[in-house]
Amino acid sequence: MPDGLVFSASFAIDGPVILVHGGAWDIPDGAVEDHRDGLKTALAAGRRSLASGHSAVDVAADVVASMESHGAFDAGRGAMLNQDGRAQLDAGIMDGSCLDYGAVIAVERLKNPIRVARRLMDAGNGQVRILAGEGAERFAVAEAFTLIDNVDLISERERDRFEALRDRIGDVHTSQSFLPGVADRRSGGGHDTVGCVVRDARGHVAAATSTGGTPFKPPGRVGDSPLPGSGFYADGEAAVSCTGWGEAIAAVVLAHDVVRRILDDEDLELAMTSRLQAMHDRIRNPDGDGARGGLIALSGSAVAWAYSTPRMARAIWAPGLGTVHLEL
Ligand code: GLY
Repeated sequence: MPDGLVFSASFAIDGPVILVHGGAWDIPDGAVEDHRDGLKTALAAGRRSLASGHSAVDVAADVVASMESHGAFDAGRGAMLNQDGRAQLDAGIMDGSCLDYGAVIAVERLKNPIRVARRLMDAGNGQVRILAGEGAERFAVAEAFTLIDNVDLISERERDRFEALRDRIGDVHTSQSFLPGVADRRSGGGHDTVGCVVRDARGHVAAATSTGGTPFKPPGRVGDSPLPGSGFYADGEAAVSCTGWGEAIAAVVLAHDVVRRILDDEDLELAMTSRLQAMHDRIRNPDGDGARGGLIALSGSAVAWAYSTPRMARAIWAPGLGTVHLEL
């Protein structure tokens, strides 16, 4: 791919719509079918939720929970493992009609972190919006969620990836050889963070994002996904969910930047592609490569996706349009 090139498309849709992504990175050919199935299953969950009359934010939680449970993605079950060989998950969600949001960070015993983030929006009563680690899990228990064993989040695929990285990079507990981010860059600079943006029948919008973060990340590392404004944002009729190199996305506060431009009446697709290009031009990893990622977004009258990685898993559903599984 030419350096910095951004792929994008937009669709004119002003009614209910669900747009979902399953990560922007160099998705291997052998993983494409599994990704398609995960996107299809998530859209079906979203359609059922919309048909039940749920609000955009509840539909967004249902869609992302489906992807967390599917196993194809770097979120929930199937998350990439940290240096301790544990799944450590982040998730965030936001309601554009009121700017309420909720997020959980570095949780290890929640089957569906996005559902706890969603509960926090209500139970936190505006006083608590983000909870990390054990505090988030204690909140979940108090709200009648069941804690699971971390091992139940670990797939064979990710166990194998972890062991291969540990063999290559070395045991970080006994050596100083590990540089944060080196595994991520070598694995194609991306991963399977999931997310969605939703517009419901009342015109309310929501954004949600969930991730296991980067492969072989240091325990406690936090990327963009649970940070409102970085990995997700929704305001008024605009909503954005991001995926890609979390440290870069957070540095340019990508989701909020795009939402702000949409609300300022910039062209939706141009707002997305110009921000991805700007992130690529401005932020370089230690190998000198420009930062890459992808995002999905909706405005009052359109939806769009854009990515600067070799592939991005994404799909869309709207009444009349049906389910469109875009090419991976
Ligand atoms: N974009 C997800 C992460 O960097 O954690």
